[in-house]
Amino acid sequence: MQSRPTQKALPPTSPAPAPAVAPRTLPLHAVPSTLLIPLAARAAGDACFPHLACGDAEASRQLRHLGVDVSTYLADRPTVLNVLWRTRRIRAAGRAFFARHPHAWGINLGCGLSHYFQWLDNGRNTWVDADLPEVMALRRALDPPLSPRLRRAILDITHPQWWQALHLPRRALAQPLFVVCEGVLMYLRPAQARQVLAQFATHAPAGSRLWVDVLPQCAVGHARWHSSVGRTGAEFQWGIRHPDELCASHPRLRLLQLHSVAECYGWLGRGLDALWNPWIGMPLYGLAELGV
Ligand SMILES: C[S@@+](CC[C@H](N)C(=O)[O-])C[C@H]1O[C@@H](n2cnc3c(N)ncnc32)[C@H](O)[C@@H]1O
Repeated sequence: MQSRPTQKALPPTSPAPAPAVAPRTLPLHAVPSTLLIPLAARAAGDACFPHLACGDAEASRQLRHLGVDVSTYLADRPTVLNVLWRTRRIRAAGRAFFARHPHAWGINLGCGLSHYFQWLDNGRNTWVDADLPEVMALRRALDPPLSPRLRRAILDITHPQWWQALHLPRRALAQPLFVVCEGVLMYLRPAQARQVLAQFATHAPAGSRLWVDVLPQCAVGHARWHSSVGRTGAEFQWGIRHPDELCASHPRLRLLQLHSVAECYGWLGRGLDALWNPWIGMPLYGLAELGV
């Protein structure tokens, strides 16, 4: 993970709603600061793409309270679309998963400020939002109190023992887990990203699912050309040349689905996907469901 501080310190102080005031900046290092990109899309992107609207009331509330100016992120329309698309796909997958396993646990690795439990809470399941200390401090200041079924964990998924650090109780592991890791792995070094997949495959109970988004290898080292990520100082470090690489970290891993964002662009997107696939072996931006 990168550690260059890019933003000035100005922490929020209480969870009470605040009026929109002069734009602030956040006390986050480069990679954690990328959480503002999906937050902006989910809070204010519905109007740009009504057919992909998420209706994320939590994101809107958080953004109002933070008072940060995200207009430059909203101007990056392709990224807003990517985020809304992946959010809806993961939300739909979560609903289907918890319909099959109503008492199961969900875990969001590198959760940023996202709030899937607003949609996935069925009254019986449990959700864990996990991220680096600086992000979890921000969440603590912004979010409503926790409950036994909505938990937070301070977690560095580059640590070799991160799975153990989650301290999942026996009842969580007695059934399949629903795990999300979106907008995260591309910022890790390749060995670290593979280790995250391998840890999931080693420890998750049979039937568990992991949703990850993936970039092609050719994006690595080129974050400066990305309209939103380029502003943060974060760099893309992990990408893949072929979908099979997603399962190469562990024999238990299976690639169940790989969606391309091109599906949002209709026949034009599918045509472009078919054109570039022989060259880069992957969708330009994909969302994978892995299973064990
Ligand atoms: C682009 S944001 C995505 C946030 C969230 N998943 C979403 O979609 O809104 C990247 C997130 O990955 C988190 N992250 C990066 N490296 C991490 C690590 N080693 N352990 C845990 N989280 C990490 C950052 O702190 C940040 O919240």
